[in-house]
Amino acid sequence: MDRVYRQDYELLLVLTGSPDGLYPVGSSYIRSDGRRAATAVDPEHRSRGLGNAIVQATLARYAYQVSEVRPGNVAQRRILENNGFCPVIDPAVVRRLLGSLWGQVVSPPSELDGSYTRFSLAAATVRRYVMYERR
Ligand SMILES: CC(C)(COP(=O)(O)OP(=O)(O)OC[C@H]1O[C@@H](n2cnc3c(N)ncnc32)[C@H](O)[C@@H]1OP(=O)(O)O)[C@@H](O)C(=O)NCCC(=O)NCCS
Repeated sequence: MDRVYRQDYELLLVLTGSPDGLYPVGSSYIRSDGRRAATAVDPEHRSRGLGNAIVQATLARYAYQVSEVRPGNVAQRRILENNGFCPVIDPAVVRRLLGSLWGQVVSPPSELDGSYTRFSLAAATVRRYVMYERR
């Protein structure tokens, strides 16, 4: 991991390539309020620990983070849980962490696992999420 860019209040991390040349293979950025906006690893470079390494690097910068994850995204959930994040079950806490996004919630957090459905502007559709928080 050899490049760190700051764009206003965001941190963007980029993993770069091989001796043949530099190219991005993974990235993540975190807003100044601690919300993880994205983490992604190039499909050809997955399952080698890069996603975990990227998240750990962002934690060195922002120890407090929150992250919405699709329930079926096992790899991202494992990364978060391996690095001290816990799923938020309490609906009141989910609501507080979502802030203005609460207005996009279609079905409220389940009291069983905290998962909820909200409209995703980026995806232009309704999606189910679990909120994770790291204290
Ligand atoms: C989620 C993502 C970033 C993980 O990156 P990665 O480099 O493959 O992850 P790692 O190699 O560090 O693996 C992390 C954990 O997930 C597990 N894992 C990796 N691929 C997996 C898979 N396909 N299914 C289940 N578990 C998987 C690993 O075993 C590891 O867990 P462990 O350390 O407890 O064994 C990557 O799959 C991705 O870019 N997905 C598309 C974008 C996305 O969904 N981003 C997250 C939401 S923003």
